[in-house]
Amino acid sequence: MILITGGAGFIGANFVLDWFRSGEDEGIVTLDKLTYAGNLENLRDLQHDPRHIFVRGDIGDKVLVANLLSKYRPRAIVNFAAESHVDRSIHGPTEFIQTNVVGTFNLLECAREYWGGLGDGDKGRFRLHHVSTDEVYGSLGLSDPAFKETNPYEPNSPYSASKAASDHLVRAWFHTYGFPVVTTNCSNNYGPYHFPEKLIPLVILNALNSKPLPIYGDGQQIRDWLYVGDHCSAIREVLANGRLGETYNIGGWNEKTNIEAVKTICSVLDKLRPRDDRKSYADQITFVKDRPGHDRRYAIDASKVEQELGWRPAETFDTGIRKTIQWYLDNSDWVKGVVTGAYREWLEKQYQKQ
Ligand code: NAD
Ligand code: TYD
Repeated sequence: MILITGGAGFIGANFVLDWFRSGEDEGIVTLDKLTYAGNLENLRDLQHDPRHIFVRGDIGDKVLVANLLSKYRPRAIVNFAAESHVDRSIHGPTEFIQTNVVGTFNLLECAREYWGGLGDGDKGRFRLHHVSTDEVYGSLGLSDPAFKETNPYEPNSPYSASKAASDHLVRAWFHTYGFPVVTTNCSNNYGPYHFPEKLIPLVILNALNSKPLPIYGDGQQIRDWLYVGDHCSAIREVLANGRLGETYNIGGWNEKTNIEAVKTICSVLDKLRPRDDRKSYADQITFVKDRPGHDRRYAIDASKVEQELGWRPAETFDTGIRKTIQWYLDNSDWVKGVVTGAYREWLEKQYQKQ
């Protein structure tokens, strides 16, 4: 068994589904609080699969996590559970501190206690894989080299600061207690099951619903996009073969300005689902007020994971974005399910006054 936290969210659900698709025979226990971002529909294919057990709960709940560990005796934990949206962290950082910092602390403490009680063989095999972000490194200038694992931490948003804090805890548990951990810091993901508060799914769905495509500021911010399936294959590789106590940067070598990414989505949609009036979806692009403290550029240097573990992304931005757009076109029921009242309230709060 392995324990996956946050497995009903975007990347966690892709990881759980890909785990079984890629032929892994170990079972999974998924622990997820089912916040607005968690969605059991993402795991619908596993509803009656005996290899998968879903538990609703909080990584910050000490009794629950300790009980789960002693009941299922996992040989590894992969921690995806987090509050993950920068704009929400600006409106209200409390949950980010609670889950990303205090929750990770609780998970580490429960896991350390469990690991301490394992026999030698199991103890030697056990590891906790902490899933983190490139945003902990701060913002790059246009000509700066991409983030390496040795870059200093310079988080700028409440989200990235809370993830940085969690990374520091994970590092300290290794150095102080010898607790077996690995951390991955990944660039921006996109793909199926992405909650439409984030740029790529928001633009796809707004385009199809004849709504404006909101670009913050001048749209010249750069993100390094990675298809979610590639992130999942990197995590599987690091979980299996990464060196304990190490961090690995994961990225797709796909730097794009936001405006470029949005125009690419528009031109793919123009081909796959042309507008009734035959005009381009790019006509819906609207520049709106910038995000406070908006990081200008993120870029990952993934040479360590490539050289040490032989991992490479399979998708380019062009191939990954086509797959993603096709997925959203083919899965309108899933889309209808996530566009809840709470989600609509968020859109009003974030975009109405801009
Ligand atoms: P997400 O917001 O889609 O999913 C997070 C999941 O965690 C949800 O299912 C939610 O219900 C669950 N959760 C939240 N608080 C919880 C708690 N206290 N206890 C248990 N479960 C809880 O996020 P995501 O995009 O899938 O990101 C997953 C991880 O990957 C996060 O740690 C994030 O920081 C990291 N990451 C994300 C990206 C990205 O582009 N999305 C890039 C790099 C790293
Ligand atoms: P997002 O998907 O929120 O990821 P992150 O902030 O973690 O990088 O945003 C990606 C980029 O797109 C970021 O530079 C902010 C920008 N953005 C917009 O321009 N408009 C939007 O409506 C959103 C949600 C994001």
